[in-house]
Amino acid sequence: MTPMPNHSITVCTSCRHKGTTCKPGFQLIEKLKDAIEAAGDAVSDDFEISGVACMAGCDRPCTVAYHGSRKAAYLFGDIDPDADVDALVTFARQYATLNDGWCNASARPQKLRAATLARVPAAIIAMEADVGRAS
Ligand code: FES
Repeated sequence: MTPMPNHSITVCTSCRHKGTTCKPGFQLIEKLKDAIEAAGDAVSDDFEISGVACMAGCDRPCTVAYHGSRKAAYLFGDIDPDADVDALVTFARQYATLNDGWCNASARPQKLRAATLARVPAAIIAMEADVGRAS
């Protein structure tokens, strides 16, 4: 049985190359899937890669997000499908090892430092019923 991935990478499929009508998100998804697969089971079994229509980073195409259960989420912009796939795979390896997903810009691959549009802390939501049980 194939294990369920613990992480996901979401690529905007609506971003356009600046000044053109070309939408490179689908191309980026295919390149990223191939590169993650080539990275081996430790990475490929742990990541699901999908597309979404927009992540509100439209001025910085292409945008790519990393998510994981109980982990900080990241949104990166200015991703070039022809140049940045290696940086995305390197970050996938790194992200998988971070317990809370949190890392500073200096710890990320060079390309992803200035390309970070958001780093959102993990949401650990205590439901009122859970709080009651704990006290
Ligand atoms: S069109 Fe890609 S983030 Fe909005």
